[in-house]
Amino acid sequence: TTESLETHFERTIEADQRIEPRDWVPEKYRATLIRQIAQHAHSEIIGMQPEGNWITRAPSLRRKAILLAKVQDEAGHGLYLYSATETLGADRGDLTERLISGKQKYSSIFNYPTLTFADVGVIGWLVDGAAICNQVPLCRCSYGPYARAMIRICKEESFHQRQGYELLMTMMRGTAAQREMVQEATNRWWWPSLMMFGPPDGDSPNTAQSMAWKIKRHTNDELRQRFVDMTVPQAEALGVTLPDPDLRWNAERGSYDFGEIDWSEFKEVLRGNGPCNAQRVAHRKRAHDEGAWVREAAAAHARKHREAA
Ligand code: 3HC
Repeated sequence: TTESLETHFERTIEADQRIEPRDWVPEKYRATLIRQIAQHAHSEIIGMQPEGNWITRAPSLRRKAILLAKVQDEAGHGLYLYSATETLGADRGDLTERLISGKQKYSSIFNYPTLTFADVGVIGWLVDGAAICNQVPLCRCSYGPYARAMIRICKEESFHQRQGYELLMTMMRGTAAQREMVQEATNRWWWPSLMMFGPPDGDSPNTAQSMAWKIKRHTNDELRQRFVDMTVPQAEALGVTLPDPDLRWNAERGSYDFGEIDWSEFKEVLRGNGPCNAQRVAHRKRAHDEGAWVREAAAAHARKHREAA
């Protein structure tokens, strides 16, 4: 009966066990997972654009090879996550339409421009660093396919973060102009990286339910704080200043206090008015339209094979 199915679901969540595709789930559990995993996948795919911008302009073959590997990883993460939504009954083509039509979001962070090569390093250091803070807990998400995808993805994110930090370390040992490039890029990416964790807990409509269902294991503010505490010593080791005059160690809390985030900027970016929103979505639409013939050919090939079989 539904009662026992519901009880099985509740018991599984309570016992910190995994829900699998064949298990009965409340429709809202299915819907919020499709919402989150789809937007996570969209973020990975759109996230290829800011960095892709520098593949043909990388300063050395080594940097080009590393960046190429990283952007290819992001594509793989996106496809992996779309597969996870399919285990919940979503359709990949439908999700792509929702991204292109603006019905579904992708991470705000990818609506900022990559103006110099130092941005490639700062994205690895701060954006992938923030992504790791946010994604490691998702490895313990109650929905099996998402948790398992995260375990694989987190391993690759660690490479992304290390290569970014190493790139910055190299530039910081370079000329004054290179050091200035790193500081300038840090100034542009610091606050948008804090916004990646989502609105403050008091303005987060999904957090309570996601915590109850153990999709989220920590709140937006908890993970944001963890990221700040982890990153300040890294900035010191690098020799850059984080652009927040209110940033200071709070011995009582055992954490860093930091300044107010400009939530009006965050809301504007989510409304589609960030620096690069239109360009990012137009690029995705163009790629989708130009790829239509490949999808048609693959479908025709599959049909021919089915008829032949
Ligand atoms: N950018 C865009 N939209 C955001 C956002 C952000 N940074 N933060 C929150 N939102 C949206 C939410 O999607 C939600 O809108 P919706 O209901 O239409 O989906 C609304 O703002 C309210 O936010 P909530 O806190 O209530 O929403 P969530 O509980 O879903 O929390 C989240 C937001 C923390 C991003 C959560 O969805 C999450 O952990 N997602 C998985 C991780 C993810 O998507 N990361 C993307 C980072 S980029 C990346 O990983 C690529 C890597 O290679 C860098």
